[in-house]
Amino acid sequence: MKINIITIDGPAGSGKGKIAKYVAKKWKLKHLDSGIFYRRIAYIISKKKINPIDKITIKILINDIDQISSQKNKILRSEKISNIASIIAEYKFVRDFVNTQQKLTVKKSKNKNGFVIDGRDIGSVVFKNANIKLYIDVDVNIRAKRRHKQLIDMGEKSIYPKILKDIKLRDKKDKSRKNSPLVIPRGAYIVDNSSKFSITQNQLNIIIGKYINGKYWN
Ligand code: C5P
Repeated sequence: MKINIITIDGPAGSGKGKIAKYVAKKWKLKHLDSGIFYRRIAYIISKKKINPIDKITIKILINDIDQISSQKNKILRSEKISNIASIIAEYKFVRDFVNTQQKLTVKKSKNKNGFVIDGRDIGSVVFKNANIKLYIDVDVNIRAKRRHKQLIDMGEKSIYPKILKDIKLRDKKDKSRKNSPLVIPRGAYIVDNSSKFSITQNQLNIIIGKYINGKYWN
């Protein structure tokens, strides 16, 4: 049986994770946050004190990893890990490894309803044939404010102008990298999430419901 997939792509801090969680709960889908894989590799790199630009050592490290967990953890959300993740996400061998991990997770899952997967290249590269694609966008200043608040709430030190600068840099890296840059996937619904939840839950449910209850959903 074909597995049903909803992809949610967008830049850092766009709220795609929250939307993914909502969709997963509402439609009983499994939520896979692809950023976690990049963050887990970044965490290992940080622990082993490997320089994130040392591609050779990172390649050896990746070759030694069989499987990586998709479990969330607060320690993966620090600014340090975010910055390392954004550097290593540019490497093709890292992306190939993460993409294989995502496909394996979906393949091995016993969840019959399917997956909602969020990231940067899910609808454009990893699951091009997804049933529904969403692209979430938000003004960069709003994203930086949200991130700043999130870090303060987590008890981390946060200086707003630095956060804004970091997010702009990560956006630039995500959108301009050679391998799988962040783009609006073909056929995606574009959602401006600048206000709290700009696509109303109702609209979202109509879009998804049409597929789940209708002829498009396999
Ligand atoms: O989404 P999140 O901020 O947790 O992702 C962490 C980093 O991993 C991002 O900075 C991004 O560069 C990278 N990433 C990616 N492709 C994905 C998911 C995340 O390049 N599908």
